[in-house]
Amino acid sequence: MKYDLSGKRVVLTGGSRGIGKALALELAGEGAVLAIAARDEARLGDTREQVIGKGGTCITLSCDVTDDDSVHRMVESAVQALGRIDVFMNIAGITLEKPLMEANPEDFRNLMETNLLGTFRCTRAALPFLKESEGLLVNVASIIARTPFPYLGVYACSKWAVAAFSSTLRQELAGKSVRVLTVYPTIVKTDMVVEEPVLANSPSQSPQQCAKAIVRAMKKGKIESDTAFLPKLLSAVYYVSPRIGDVITRLFLPRAYRGAHE
Ligand SMILES: NC(=O)c1ccc[n+]([C@@H]2O[C@H](COP(=O)([O-])OP(=O)(O)OC[C@H]3O[C@@H](n4cnc5c(N)ncnc54)[C@H](OP(=O)(O)O)[C@@H]3O)[C@@H](O)[C@H]2O)c1
Repeated sequence: MKYDLSGKRVVLTGGSRGIGKALALELAGEGAVLAIAARDEARLGDTREQVIGKGGTCITLSCDVTDDDSVHRMVESAVQALGRIDVFMNIAGITLEKPLMEANPEDFRNLMETNLLGTFRCTRAALPFLKESEGLLVNVASIIARTPFPYLGVYACSKWAVAAFSSTLRQELAGKSVRVLTVYPTIVKTDMVVEEPVLANSPSQSPQQCAKAIVRAMKKGKIESDTAFLPKLLSAVYYVSPRIGDVITRLFLPRAYRGAHE
């Protein structure tokens, strides 16, 4: 089912930088009307200026996805300003690069709080409006939710959870007019990865490439989408044989393995 983004009211979290910022610019190019949310208001303002510079329409909303009230205020303000929500995109997220046995329970709590519960909170607040508009929910998981990767275990747990949340919700919403797209980006060169030795030294795509792939998937009406072919292939190998997948991961990303945390 093809989806035309022109004139659609799109609300996205994570709009202050990285993939969310690139998506805001890409969606503006498609004619979408935007509300972008994050905590850093100065950087949100910068995204907004760039969207407006491209001829787009954009408002900014301060929001912390770890806070219920903040999320509700953000969604209410978006509806007041835009009149409706056609598309809601859960993009806000954090990462952690640490060997699993050096992680502590607080690391797990932090990642789950933002990545999983942030997605849950925003979805729960936005869903009534998506039902009204027969809209689209987009949840950003990660290739790590399909292919395990050393030193990213805590992050992987949170993103497996996001993927499970998203695909289960898709099934539960079947027949209720709200469509759900789960996106599995490969490694993307953003602030999130630059200071993490494994991620920073792995093959990656640009935020713009990632944003274009996500917009393509939205327009094609996909329900799941990877943003790059080779990681998708690797995840298929993993599905068939985790043993071979482990070997290929080592060969495929040798520099990332060597020396990062040893
Ligand atoms: N980069 C990658 O390699 C990669 C790969 C696969 C999936 N992803 C996923 O893609 C999404 C975007 O990542 P990115 O690479 O663009 O990261 P990024 O450049 O670090 O941006 C993260 C965004 O999330 C927002 N955010 C973080 N915590 C928040 C909170 N508590 N409340 C509200 N907003 C919050 C940040 O805004 P403020 O700090 O201003 O609040 C920022 O806009 C994440 O879900 C990430 O897990 C990234």
